[in-house]
Amino acid sequence: MKKVLITGGAGFIGSNFVNLLMEDRPEYHITVLDKLTYAGNLKNLAKWKDNPHFTFIKADLFDKIKIEEIFQKESFDFVVHFAAESHVDRSITGPEVFLQTNIFGTFYLLESIKKYWSPNSNEKRFLHVSTDEVYGSLGDSGFFTETTPYAPNSPYSASKASSDHLVRAYHHTYNLPVITTNCSNNYGPYHFPEKLIPLMILNCLREKPLPVYGDGKNIRDWLFVKDHCHAILLVLENGRIGESYNIGTRNEKNNLEIVETICKKMDKHFPDKKPHNRLITYVKDRPGHDFRYAIDPSKIEKELGWKPKYDFDSAIQQTIDWYIQNENWWSEILSGEYLKYYQNQYGIN
Ligand code: NAD
Ligand code: DAU
Repeated sequence: MKKVLITGGAGFIGSNFVNLLMEDRPEYHITVLDKLTYAGNLKNLAKWKDNPHFTFIKADLFDKIKIEEIFQKESFDFVVHFAAESHVDRSITGPEVFLQTNIFGTFYLLESIKKYWSPNSNEKRFLHVSTDEVYGSLGDSGFFTETTPYAPNSPYSASKASSDHLVRAYHHTYNLPVITTNCSNNYGPYHFPEKLIPLMILNCLREKPLPVYGDGKNIRDWLFVKDHCHAILLVLENGRIGESYNIGTRNEKNNLEIVETICKKMDKHFPDKKPHNRLITYVKDRPGHDFRYAIDPSKIEKELGWKPKYDFDSAIQQTIDWYIQNENWWSEILSGEYLKYYQNQYGIN
């Protein structure tokens, strides 16, 4: 029986990871710590709320005293740290909270662990979930490996890079049992609709413009969230302490390809509304927009035998189907704070 603390477990990837652990590791006790920002949603965890193996704590990582109290009361075996401000566009218009949560929040977690975990706790692990964006932007060729120098370009990626450096430093200086993962763009169920894929799916469903930044040629390396969660579990249980692992599935697509794929699948679901690509609208580019991300996942493949289970075509179909079937999840999100954000970001409703 392991006691696992999952920060940010009410968000997109965190809640998918909670679902995986609750199903595949029923002997574990899971505690989710989450501030429930605009991106955190208890509906994502609703099916576990009465399960004796599940506890939820509402807390802000930036609240140092509260975080210390949690670690003083409970001895966790594993901490999986997902909590973050995660949207690049929001970091451009309001960077401060990114520094508070992503840098100071991680710092307070590390400080609590340093204080309450004994120095030679070999069985314990702190897994820090980070991003490929810390490596900066690639040109037409090349891949990010674990030794690619850091070159973050947005306030978001700079805050994640800072947190990665702190995690590394706490291992080297204080011998904390840490591992870092750096993954590429995730997609799948529970993805907050400010991000490209869910935004395009929901705008298709509502016949709204599909806002493509710049010329739509920027490339991302898309990873299905369930594959990512399996990789995290593998690293958590079998990865080497002090190491970092890149996670990706060699699935590069430019943004227009993604939007066109979604439109074609929507045409099949709703032929009376086709062609959905008539909704594509080119809008002002993101400032400092990174051109290309691409992960080389050889290390996790060779060392831990990790392999993705899903191919892009079936996983994007699963994702679209999930949004079609879960209108009660997204309709609530699309009112209130999101409306204001959307108007501010795109200048339209
Ligand atoms: P998300 O925005 O969907 O969820 C973030 C969660 O963290 C939310 O539940 C939110 O309430 C919580 N949170 C935010 N600030 C907090 C605070 N101060 N204290 C406690 N909880 C707080 O994010 P996501 O897409 O699930 O990303 C999870 C992690 O994975 C992040 O660290 C992100 O940087 C990283 N990541 C995400 C992607 C991706 O494609 N989504 C790719 C690479 C890395
Ligand atoms: O690479 C990993 C990162 O992926 C994570 O660290 C971040 O948390 C996550 O948000 C994601 O960042 P991106 O900026 O790559 O994702 P986003 O979905 O915001 O944008 C994907 C691409 O689509 C990017 O090139 C910008 C473009 N885009 C995005 C939106 C929201 C558009 O063209 N139009 C849009 O409306």
